Amino acid sequence: MTVLVTGGAGFIGSNFVHQWLSATDEQLVNLDALTYAGNLANLAAIEGDPRHVFVRGDIGDRALIDRLFAEHQPRAVIHFAAESHVDRSIHGPGAFIQTNVVGTFSLLESARGHWRSLTPEARDLFRFLQVSTDEVYGSLTPDAAPFAETHPFEPNSPYSASKAAADHLVRAWFHTYGLPVLTTHCSNNYGPYHFPEKLIPLVIANALAGKPLPIYGDGRQVRDWLYVEDHCHAIARVLEAGRVGESYHIGGWNEMTNLDVVNTLCVILDELRPKAGSYKDQITFVKDRPGHDRRYAMDARKIERELGWRPKETFATGIRKTVQWYLDNQPWVEGVTSGAYRQWMNQHYGA
Ligand code: NAD
Ligand code: DAU
Repeated sequence: MTVLVTGGAGFIGSNFVHQWLSATDEQLVNLDALTYAGNLANLAAIEGDPRHVFVRGDIGDRALIDRLFAEHQPRAVIHFAAESHVDRSIHGPGAFIQTNVVGTFSLLESARGHWRSLTPEARDLFRFLQVSTDEVYGSLTPDAAPFAETHPFEPNSPYSASKAAADHLVRAWFHTYGLPVLTTHCSNNYGPYHFPEKLIPLVIANALAGKPLPIYGDGRQVRDWLYVEDHCHAIARVLEAGRVGESYHIGGWNEMTNLDVVNTLCVILDELRPKAGSYKDQITFVKDRPGHDRRYAMDARKIERELGWRPKETFATGIRKTVQWYLDNQPWVEGVTSGAYRQWMNQHYGA
């Protein structure tokens, strides 16, 4: 048996690939375009594993994807590949429409062609799993209940609008063509291999480099943080037993303000890598993100009730492991923070 993973050289995708290969005997075809966010160093630990077939390519390359389906006959597609950074989507939305919307459309068409060619038994077993985000629901007020699966889509950024559009396509391919799809919506992940343009790895990297720790606006925006391995377990569980056509929320039951997250990172760094003074001295308030969503929170009771999934890691345990991982993997950080990364930092935060 084989599964096709897209975006498996990125943050969550690479964690998923590691977890999948250590938990199953299946072959995994990993299709990734290796954009600035994709990194083969994330997959170094499985180099030489014959069950891992890496293919560099774009999800929008129809001929390539059709060939991969024909050659490997995957029983499932787990679709991570995306442009994923909200700030980049504000600077340049085009790539988000191209990959997240047009690319997902193309992948769905290839998957549909493959699925139609299968025997009735294999068709029943086939799955297309769309990995989506809580951001498609927009922003919550402080006292509002967490997002349930029935909440209307109200995306506010080019990134979240592009993910919402892709989710709608996935839904339509189920209702119109019968393609057996599943969709997961997850909250903010953190953990190993997280690219240091996102808040948590950026703060760790900047703290260690003696640079400012940039906090947008007043820092009181709320996110629901989940350790990446818990997210990967949840996806595997939905793939295994989720009801076709349904969507499942995945979250950490762990709402925190950005300021609390950054302060926690500073406290852990003060302990694990002490220096004169506290890392908190590096905290710097900067201009807010345009259209910045104030609060996200996920109601993840459906996946618990139907599939028995709950996060294993608490924020206290997960964030400590994460900081330790970055301290132990400085060459990885140096490898991904050269060239194009510096250009982005200068463009976005100023010199
Ligand atoms: P990431 O940016 O770290 O990785 C994305 C990967 O996709 C990279 O390896 C990149 O090279 C690849 N890619 C981009 N465009 C491609 C294309 N056209 N063809 C093939 N590969 C391409 O992203 P991530 O944080 O790992 O997120 C993975 C998925 O999970 C995304 O769909 C994202 O929307 C979703 N998600 C992320 C989070 C989070 O907190 N990071 C939370 C919920 C959902
Ligand atoms: O909620 C799930 C989403 O989480 C995913 O769909 C996205 O792919 C992922 O990038 C993430 O989006 P966010 O915008 O929430 O993550 P980010 O790490 O960029 O920012 C987290 C919060 O921290 C957000 O409120 C913005 C703030 N922030 C971010 C950066 C990069 C800062 O205050 N300063 C910063 O420098």
